[in-house]
Amino acid sequence: MNQLIDPFKRPIEYVRLSVTDRCDLRCFYCMPEDHHQFQEPAEWLSFDEIQRVIGAFTRLGVSRIRITGGEPLVRRNVDQLVEKLAVLPGLDDLSMSTNAVSLSRFAQPLYAAGVRRLNVSLDTLQAERFKTITKGKLDKVIKGLMAAKEAGFSPIKINMVVMKGINDDEVEDMVEFCLKHDFTLRFIETMPMGSSGLEATDHYQDLQEIKHRLQQHYDLIPSFMPGGGPARYFNIAGSKANIGFITPISQHFCDTCNRVRLSADGTLYMCLGQEHNFPLRPLLRAGISDHELENAIRAAIDLKPEKHEFNEKPEQVVRFMSFTGG
Ligand code: GTP
Ligand code: 5AD
Ligand code: SF4
Repeated sequence: MNQLIDPFKRPIEYVRLSVTDRCDLRCFYCMPEDHHQFQEPAEWLSFDEIQRVIGAFTRLGVSRIRITGGEPLVRRNVDQLVEKLAVLPGLDDLSMSTNAVSLSRFAQPLYAAGVRRLNVSLDTLQAERFKTITKGKLDKVIKGLMAAKEAGFSPIKINMVVMKGINDDEVEDMVEFCLKHDFTLRFIETMPMGSSGLEATDHYQDLQEIKHRLQQHYDLIPSFMPGGGPARYFNIAGSKANIGFITPISQHFCDTCNRVRLSADGTLYMCLGQEHNFPLRPLLRAGISDHELENAIRAAIDLKPEKHEFNEKPEQVVRFMSFTGG
């Protein structure tokens, strides 16, 4: 059997593919405003190289790919990459995480190329607040979301990082917005990723408290959504809507981790919260065979650590979230 199994007996069937570490927003918890040290295009894997690596993963049993960034839509012609991935045998879930700033332009071509699920970052519905958090314009994101709905993506999930004193008063408004538009809302706890993430943990909000607050307005019934991610879902009684809680800090989910991450420069990162990595680009450019590539991936999976240590060692993760992807 070809399935990848890590040292803690977890099947690895999900690859998060970062196609750029750049972004057209500057969410304060993700990347410092004056951050300019980005990878150079020569360091990026080409679309053919990415297709080769993902092809090897699919032969090893990986069936889900999420395209992420930075912001994946700032990588030129990303829809052409989607076409190259969509044809790979064995791949049955091709999704993207985006900030939706340019989604109104890309929704149709992405759907046509083969992306079916979208996760969109949105922390507030207030334009001024959006500007404070991201330095960007809310109306573009809302237009992008509506274009995605129109194009037929399903489900569309909204990722809201809930932060005390920043946007925790908007949780109910966001639930109503998502109910109205048939979006799945997920709340996320702030993680100490890079210096900006570490500073943002001053606003850390335990999501167990938010759940209790929502239970006073809504009847929340435990439910399930396909996708294989870490969210714990609840159906809002009387509706079709689900809301999810992603709680890396208050209730970690590492024992069911099913994923690894490929950065834009072709390095495999084994955990969001740890440095264990395996650079594939030098091997690809040295002319490695497909069989050797599969063996390299197996060797990388053997390095996967048991869990993150955000609570014990919050200063440890020096990579910004924008580098590894969400
Ligand atoms: P699907 O279930 O495929 O929709 O994906 P997902 O639930 O993994 O969602 P998404 O890719 O939108 O990730 C949402 C957030 O979950 C990320 O921004 C992270 O905050 C968190 N997250 C995702 N994967 C991990 C992980 O492996 N470890 C930790 N600690 N957090 C994660
Ligand atoms: N902690 C938690 N989530 C984060 N994201 C970015 N930085 C952090 C952080 N420090 C989230 C974004 C987006 C996804 C890609 O990652 O809000 O939804
Ligand atoms: Fe860009 Fe996403 Fe980071 Fe915001 S969270 S700066 S949208 S990569």
